[in-house]
Amino acid sequence: MQELFVEGGNRLNGELTIQGSKNGVLPVLAATIVCAGECRIENCPHLRDVEASVAILRHLGCCTRWDGNALLVDTTHMDKNEVPDALMREMRSSVIFLGAILARQREAVLSYPGGCELGPRPIDMHLAALRSLGAGITDLGGKLRCSAGALTASEIVLPTPSVGATENAILAACGADGTSVIYNAAREPEISELQEFLNAMGAEVRGAGGSIVTVRGGRTLHGGSHRVISDRIAAATYLCAAAACGGEVRLSGVDCAALSTVTAALYEAGCKVESGERDVVIKSSAALRAISPVKTAPYPGFPTDAQPALMAALLKSSGSTVFVENIFENRYRHARELARMGADVCVAGRVAVVRGVDSLHGADVACTDLRGGAALVLAALQAEGTTRISRLEHIDRGYESMEKELALLGARIERREEEAWQKRDETEDAEGEGIPSS
Ligand code: EPZ
Repeated sequence: MQELFVEGGNRLNGELTIQGSKNGVLPVLAATIVCAGECRIENCPHLRDVEASVAILRHLGCCTRWDGNALLVDTTHMDKNEVPDALMREMRSSVIFLGAILARQREAVLSYPGGCELGPRPIDMHLAALRSLGAGITDLGGKLRCSAGALTASEIVLPTPSVGATENAILAACGADGTSVIYNAAREPEISELQEFLNAMGAEVRGAGGSIVTVRGGRTLHGGSHRVISDRIAAATYLCAAAACGGEVRLSGVDCAALSTVTAALYEAGCKVESGERDVVIKSSAALRAISPVKTAPYPGFPTDAQPALMAALLKSSGSTVFVENIFENRYRHARELARMGADVCVAGRVAVVRGVDSLHGADVACTDLRGGAALVLAALQAEGTTRISRLEHIDRGYESMEKELALLGARIERREEEAWQKRDETEDAEGEGIPSS
């Protein structure tokens, strides 16, 4: 087991190039199996979730190879349509493979992805979309078999703009003869990225980024190349770190429009933020002020994935900030760990109130989930003394060497192997769940 040791108090200065997007690359990797051919995915981040997707692709009979920061995927000899439980458990968002396997093989079997640290994570909308396209779904007791002799184009109406359900519907619709229309589609940039990659493979997807997406399916697709977009949540995380610690940081290769709700919040907190074409500069005195209520919402609203990082940035602000988490049921698990460092966060269901404190102090804390873990790092950067952060497997799912990026900006942070005598029971979880999340 590894741990991060953080000495708080340093300002952050310098420039980072933001990694490829975790939530962008995962559906793209699933999409590679819709064709029988070779795909080249440039700017592919080295993350645990990418490794989990590669394991699934290999299990299905595909070949993969890294070429620097490019991942090459050859799906020509794909010969399976089942994702076993062990691989599903490694990454909950593996459910995104369902639509792609169905489009390619007309049958897909995978274990129920189950819940995670953020809440129950149902897939009812995914399954309803696949049924609309003609798939029959059988519950095999913990496993799902989706089969369709033929997928037929359909009109799909999503009750809420679910990112994963939109992606699964688009992928499955690629295998359905005719033109499918998805209403109330998620509008996240990652949906547009999936559209771009599928069209590079010869598909005809239109409307991504808006609420109505059309897919002209039944076409034979071919391999394609794609460059993964920058990770807007990683960018938001480092902006919040700079806001909290003080200093001047430039992030390059970012989509500033996708960051606008986060940069607006940091501007309101007292930071100077300059957004260029593909870069953003933040200047902070570290003396932040509380801001108006932060309500997470589907894109283009404030991203739920940036809520923990913004909360961490405001822990020492003057005044109180109200957070309302409208996407996930249980996305404040990091608050308890932040309290161990002296933070004052009061949680009541979907609402959390952050009251700024004069100081934070180092402590032993454990990551509860991916973005909650990032929040602990940001709190530690502001704390007096040393903070030891364990359960780094959560952070490593979505951040490419976070400690190296922060050290480049001047943070005193390093990763160490946990001392043998400190080894914790690996099955132990902050709340005893230990279930992977997406
Ligand atoms: C994607 O998850 C992201 N993951 C999440 O990022 C992100 O927080 C989320 O979208 C919202 O933006 C990936 O892209 C891999 P949803 P997803 O379907 O697709 C409920 C991170 O930290 N719902 O939009 O699972 C669901 O329970 C991760 O990078 C149903 O009820 O999100 C949730 O409350 C965390 N039924 C809400 O909708 C369904 O069939 C939003 O979920 C599907 C979803």
